[in-house]
Amino acid sequence: MPQAMKALKGVMMELQDCAFPTLHGMVPADNSDAGFADIDYLLAVGAKPRGPGMERADLMKDNAKIFQAQGRSLSNFAKPTVKALVVGNPANTNALVLAANAPKIDPRNITAMTRLDHNRAVGQLAERTKATNASIDKVTIWGNHSPTMAVDITHATIAGKSAVATVNDANWIETVFTPTVQKRGAAIIEARGASSAASAANAALEHIRDWALGTTSQSWTSMAVLSNGEYGVEKGIYSSFPVTCKNGVWTIVNGLSVNDNIQKKIDVTVKELKDERDMVKALC
Ligand code: LMR
Repeated sequence: MPQAMKALKGVMMELQDCAFPTLHGMVPADNSDAGFADIDYLLAVGAKPRGPGMERADLMKDNAKIFQAQGRSLSNFAKPTVKALVVGNPANTNALVLAANAPKIDPRNITAMTRLDHNRAVGQLAERTKATNASIDKVTIWGNHSPTMAVDITHATIAGKSAVATVNDANWIETVFTPTVQKRGAAIIEARGASSAASAANAALEHIRDWALGTTSQSWTSMAVLSNGEYGVEKGIYSSFPVTCKNGVWTIVNGLSVNDNIQKKIDVTVKELKDERDMVKALC
């Protein structure tokens, strides 16, 4: 049996052993046409992984080819209402390639994951303030799932009070908190010699659950979604925004004030997304 199918068998055995209440069967497939047949949700976790010391840009073109093929399969074989979450890096640009190659799918039904960055920000804030994760709301990740992401806690609250005022240390926010969140993916790779696994899987689960079942009324989450020019972000790219979800539909939170410091960071991360888009233009 080829190594990939052997590994897949192991994954299926473990899934069975989890006895998830919503698991009603599994169909193994070694190609995306068969694997995407009639699906309602796609969690595109498979991409060429980044190893220690590797730059994301090195992966850009190889992964774009993978997502070009998957976009065609999605368009031709999935349900037209399919909702897709791209996890594999470079996630935002892979989502762009997927959407461009899936003409039968509404591009709003294709998203990329920044929930992991959102959760990392919550975790860092909780540790610093000794608050519970559950008491922290309205954190925002803007832009790319990469070290350029803009981490914004200007609207965040901890137990209902301003997070910025609770932390009361602008220097820590700027020089410790923000880079820790931005570079957490690389730090995890450095620590374990492999990309994040459990936290990424949890973030994917939370992304899909909130999209399908809705966000709570007092808060929002961060998702990379198709920009229609909101907050000055280039139309047509997949950028992270603060979003709420209801009845299976995401909506970008509008009307938030964005200070100059955060705006500059959004401009940087959006520029990176535009550069990535230009690098994969031939495949879109
Ligand atoms: C993460 O944020 O943990 C990963 O996206 C890092 C990576 O490049 O695999």
